[in-house]
Amino acid sequence: MSSAASPIGAQRTDSSAYDVAVIGLGYVGLPTALAFHAAGLRVLGVDRDPGRLEAIRAGRVDLLDSDHRRLRAARDGLAVTADPADAARADALIICVPTPVNRHLVPDLGALTEACATAAAHARAGQTIVLTSTSYVGSTRELLVRPLSARGLRVGTDVFVAFSPERIDPGNDRHPHEDVPRVVGGVTPRCAARAMALLGRYAGDLHGVSSAEAAEMTKLLENTFRAVNIALVNEFADASRLLELDVMEVIEAAATKPYGFMPFFPGPGAGGHCIPCDPHYLLWQLKRDRLHTPLVSAAMNAIAMRPGQVVERARQVLSDQGRGLSGADVLVLGVAYKPDVEDLRESPALEIIDGLLAAGAAVRYHDPRVPELVTEGGTKLASAEPGPADLVIAHTPHQGLDLGWLRADQLLLDATYRFSGPARRVAL
Ligand SMILES: NC(=O)c1ccc[n+]([C@@H]2O[C@H](COP(=O)([O-])OP(=O)(O)OC[C@H]3O[C@@H](n4cnc5c(N)ncnc54)[C@H](O)[C@@H]3O)[C@@H](O)[C@H]2O)c1
Repeated sequence: MSSAASPIGAQRTDSSAYDVAVIGLGYVGLPTALAFHAAGLRVLGVDRDPGRLEAIRAGRVDLLDSDHRRLRAARDGLAVTADPADAARADALIICVPTPVNRHLVPDLGALTEACATAAAHARAGQTIVLTSTSYVGSTRELLVRPLSARGLRVGTDVFVAFSPERIDPGNDRHPHEDVPRVVGGVTPRCAARAMALLGRYAGDLHGVSSAEAAEMTKLLENTFRAVNIALVNEFADASRLLELDVMEVIEAAATKPYGFMPFFPGPGAGGHCIPCDPHYLLWQLKRDRLHTPLVSAAMNAIAMRPGQVVERARQVLSDQGRGLSGADVLVLGVAYKPDVEDLRESPALEIIDGLLAAGAAVRYHDPRVPELVTEGGTKLASAEPGPADLVIAHTPHQGLDLGWLRADQLLLDATYRFSGPARRVAL
């Protein structure tokens, strides 16, 4: 082991090499590293953020209970390092770094470009490299195959490169990592075979496609499909309110159809690292080639505008009570982007809070999973004790959220569409 890598527990191990190195130990990479470790592989976790490594060592990470158990069990067997050069000691690399968008909704390829460049620079003959970060079509070839070839390593003969999109749903224990099929596309058939042998160590089901590009496009289709359907169901929610119908009743009824329908649920917007970001990788790429995809563009615009609609609706609901947002005491209930996680990335709540503050409201929030936050506009807030307000906005329905303080006459704007506590509930 090189001097930089150490086991997450107190003792050092004497391993001299690793079966796999996972580069990027975030919401996806850490559970992946733990799954490989649980399958009996010698695993090295690489993350450039020493704070993240410290949090992993201390067990202060947002994981499913089952993954926390794995993390505790892995204490002396899973090595972690901030030094990317250590990855050269592994037979295989899994690259799992973030692929966000910037505030102009343009892909931010900084982390991916850096991680791939480092992997290619340190790659050695015999290694298998699997890119799993969501990205534009052609990323594997441009960011890995090209620099590897420039170093004289022949892909498919000396090194083996593939793309396999990550499909994990953090915080959701109904679909364990091992049970979700993995799509794998190799740069050559030998690359695909190597990648499948690696991922098959923990994934129960593998689906091969003909190329890395087909695998990249598969991920973009999956998440664009979700984005378009979320935008659609949000429109149905708005239409149902106008027509005085309960959209959840309508969705539930439609979902009884055994084919041709899949339920999606409306909400205050779409957050997290996937839906608000991934389709922009496709749009960005197609714009370069002058191909217009109006349906995807419209869906992504609608998703981006949804938090603003929540603020407008709050204004309307208070105006129906004869008052404005200015000076109103507003409590946002739940701010994480989805239930039962701490993840605030792209959470609609951040933009909603900024919008409410800009309108002059006094805003508090309550979320036991998010002790503090900084909004897009730079406002810092700490989670407050929940209590009566001029308006409560139900945003994230975490399990076990304290609703005991709510009274039947509390005005509540239900952006979750599924709020069932005592309140004078109005639909978004
Ligand atoms: N979060 C999800 O729900 C989800 C689901 C499926 C797929 N994905 C995809 O998986 C990828 C990773 O997402 P995530 O949510 O795990 O991100 P994340 O932000 O939680 O974690 C990424 C980690 O990578 C580290 N990192 C960044 N650059 C690095 C580098 N050059 N070398 C080493 N470490 C580096 C960061 O410090 C961070 O700890 C993204 O492409 C995302 O689209 C995410």
